[in-house]
Amino acid sequence: MNRGLAIYPGSFDPTTNGHLDLIERGAKIFEELVVAILRNSEKSPMFSVAERLEMLRELTAHLKNVRIETFDGLMVEYAKSMEAMCILRGIRAISDYEYELQMALMNRKLEPTLETVFMMPADKYSYVSSRLVREVAQAGGPVKGLVPEVVERKLREKLDPAYKFHDGMHEVAPGVAGGKEKKRKKRA
Ligand code: PNS
Repeated sequence: MNRGLAIYPGSFDPTTNGHLDLIERGAKIFEELVVAILRNSEKSPMFSVAERLEMLRELTAHLKNVRIETFDGLMVEYAKSMEAMCILRGIRAISDYEYELQMALMNRKLEPTLETVFMMPADKYSYVSSRLVREVAQAGGPVKGLVPEVVERKLREKLDPAYKFHDGMHEVAPGVAGGKEKKRKKRA
């Protein structure tokens, strides 16, 4: 058993500023933190596992004791295979508690030696969830401040593939995008 190792499992579809806040807090407490993205989620995700992995790796590159991995099947089995001592989960508001308690107790039933540790992200993120971020972005609303910039950009690229092309054009030849750029600014 590695007492200094914790697993922070989740879907991270996409990573929000709340997730990142929790990762940074967890990294201060545990010697090593493995952020584990669930691969076999039943939900149809917005971002592929590879995309989520890439974004999280970029976002946590400054945290030397944080690793991003993926897992399949039962979380407790994965945690055991990593010899982790505990699971880290975030609780934003009381509404999270019931589900998290249920999950923690089920995980304890499955593996009594594994502990779940709850931490609270900054209160300014207490209403931020991946589901709401997806919903707002899909409806064309702004998600600035709710997700890291790289995620904001990826969301825009995903929902409006022309954005990526436009961005590239702007970098290579400023001004060439001309009218298109004006149109974009109006919509943003
Ligand atoms: O970010 P999410 O979607 O709230 O994370 C949920 C997650 C991935 C932690 C949970 O669904 C999970 O651990 N799934 C793996 C399968 C499993 O172990 N299920 C039993 C949980 S009690």
